Amino acid sequence: MNKQEQLKNLNDCMIKCSQCALRSGCTQVVPGEGSAEAEIMFIGEGPGQKEDELGRPFVGAAGKFLDEMLEIINFKRENVYIANVVKCRPPQNRDPLPEEAAACWPWLLEQIKIIEPKLIVTLGRHSMERFLPGQKISVVHGKAMRREMPEIGKRIFYTLYHPAAALYNGSMRETLMKDFKRIPKVLEKIESEKK
Ligand code: URA
Repeated sequence: MNKQEQLKNLNDCMIKCSQCALRSGCTQVVPGEGSAEAEIMFIGEGPGQKEDELGRPFVGAAGKFLDEMLEIINFKRENVYIANVVKCRPPQNRDPLPEEAAACWPWLLEQIKIIEPKLIVTLGRHSMERFLPGQKISVVHGKAMRREMPEIGKRIFYTLYHPAAALYNGSMRETLMKDFKRIPKVLEKIESEKK
């Protein structure tokens, strides 16, 4: 089975999931979207209202901002992979509870195992916390960090502020944009270190 088929199978399983209470309060599961061959995987927090309505990640205001930033660095949305820590919308867009993030964690790990991205970009504190627990986003944003996790092996993480948080906050927006623009350089460095 190729990666695309594996992702399709995984998504079929994900949409039947009811491991936590979020599923009963949302419209549909939002598994993620993009290329199964993506070099970069962006991981947000969880679907919002628009995402819940359309079944696609990052399609609301934060998504528009993410698209804008991707365009600035000449990346196409269809060539990256975009997913979330939780695949079902938390009521009133509240933060996912630890037990909800934990219930959804195996799905995210499977996505990473299939896609094998060169770089995992975490969007926001909750996404960062899953992979880099105990770190402070104000300290580690814009820094590439290697970490080995038993389920997914050695991975490189790049932490960014969440586009929704930065959208209406001038200085955070500037910082996010600056960090985002460094993504191609981070990828280049990963490539050159492989040689
Ligand atoms: N915010 C997220 O974290 N994920 C989405 O898919 C949309 C908004």
